[in-house]
Amino acid sequence: MTDKELLDCAKKALVNSYAPYSGFNVGAALLTDDNTLFLGCNIENASYGATVCAERTAIFKAVSEGYTKFSRIAVVAKDGSTAFPCGICLQVMNEFMPEGNVILEVNGEAASYNVKELLPHGFVLEDN
Ligand code: THU
Repeated sequence: MTDKELLDCAKKALVNSYAPYSGFNVGAALLTDDNTLFLGCNIENASYGATVCAERTAIFKAVSEGYTKFSRIAVVAKDGSTAFPCGICLQVMNEFMPEGNVILEVNGEAASYNVKELLPHGFVLEDN
């Protein structure tokens, strides 16, 4: 699957985004190392801190189904803005896809970033 196709999958995931508080709908599409696809969307809550981002929804869905190695995750926002993953999502990516890539739409084109370049010093337990 191309990066562009993975972005299209993330756009489909937007449909189920539940974001009545921020109005900022986000969709994510995650590929496992054996090319299984998981979709995710952000899920907000009246208690704002209970909100889960689209990226973590997709990753947690996959992990709960027994997948723990991922190669790429595409992320899109409804308004077409470039939504870089937040720090918590990057830390979760660091756990399951430290060598993986984040695909974003920048000026209508697919742009690829390494998880490591977005989170160069992610926390790992072995370091401590
Ligand atoms: N959000 C995501 O789902 N992913 C991101 O990469 C950035 C932020 C969500 C969380 C919240 O529902 C809304 O966007 C506004 O922060």
